[in-house]
Amino acid sequence: MLAISADGVSKRYKGLSQTALSNVSLNAERGQIYTLLGRNGAGKTTFVRICATQLMPTKGRIEVLGYDVIKDANEVRKLISIVPQEGRPLRALTPWDHVYNWLQIRGEKKQVAREKTEKILEKLDLYDAKDRPAMNLSGGMKQKVLVAMAMSVDAQLLFLDEPTIGLDPISRRQVWSAIKDWKKEGKSILLTTHYMDEAEILSDNIVIIDNGKIIARGTIKELRRTIPQNTRIDIVKDNIDMELFKSYGTVVDSGGNTVRIFTYESAIKELTGLAINKNLSFTVSPITLDDVFISLVGGNEIERQQQDRKDLKNDAVTRI
Ligand SMILES: Nc1ncnc2c1ncn2[C@@H]1O[C@H](COP(=O)(O)OP(=O)(O)OP(=O)(O)O)[C@@H](O)[C@H]1O
Ligand SMILES: [Mg+2]
Repeated sequence: MLAISADGVSKRYKGLSQTALSNVSLNAERGQIYTLLGRNGAGKTTFVRICATQLMPTKGRIEVLGYDVIKDANEVRKLISIVPQEGRPLRALTPWDHVYNWLQIRGEKKQVAREKTEKILEKLDLYDAKDRPAMNLSGGMKQKVLVAMAMSVDAQLLFLDEPTIGLDPISRRQVWSAIKDWKKEGKSILLTTHYMDEAEILSDNIVIIDNGKIIARGTIKELRRTIPQNTRIDIVKDNIDMELFKSYGTVVDSGGNTVRIFTYESAIKELTGLAINKNLSFTVSPITLDDVFISLVGGNEIERQQQDRKDLKNDAVTRI
């Protein structure tokens, strides 16, 4: 049985001429973390909400943990948990109330609910703030209350729609660790995020959605292999004419004192040989998920970034 099995799913919102999702098919294995990546408006939340029985598809079929999300919506709801993108805790209720009440609604006995509430609040470093009404919590703490609620319950599949938005670097890591623990129990996760480091650290599989369609999927390694110029070489500028390197790949001025060249694996030897010849320092690394994403989704984003950096530099010079 799969965590999610989607077949030809489309969604058109009323009053919108464009389809938010078109013909999306996806099989997600259990016990893994799948991450949906895509630009704003790509259709990620729409897909998550359909899987989580919050929204009806216009066309297609989705089974979650073997149950049809339309016909067996109640069965599905017992097995899933969600951090919605636009969620907010209730102003007057404390973190403790949110988690404890939620566990009781999901059918936990009082004693178990108390233990589970304590555990998740500790894990996400919310325990000291457990009795503060949500209106007196910081933005990041409010977001963590939603994560705590979703992760406190005994579900099989967790939907996390941008769960770490607004969290500081330490809080993000607390959430990542909770996510990893969740997976260790053999449970499944569908995550959406715009943070590529987060996706890189957590995902077993990446699914890239663009304009409502899946345009790429696979492990990060597999996706990297689909990009021909999948190696990056950063060379310290040092007064050398960078035109020299143009024939080896895409040259991007990274703003500081280095130039980045996206190139083919087959060109590494020659390119680094040239750099050594000219006495230039360099580093060689595989492209990151960020590079993969921009290459697959961004079109001529690399040139645009280059222009942005030039504009920023000019702006800085003008201001001085
Ligand atoms: N309730 C709604 N009514 C009408 N259109 C909607 C509604 N929700 C989303 N849309 C539209 O559907 C498309 C996909 O939106 P969706 O929220 O799924 O994108 P997303 O990938 O989650 O984006 P983001 O990264 O900004 O969260 C967008 O064009 C959006 O304007
Ligand atoms: Mg969204």
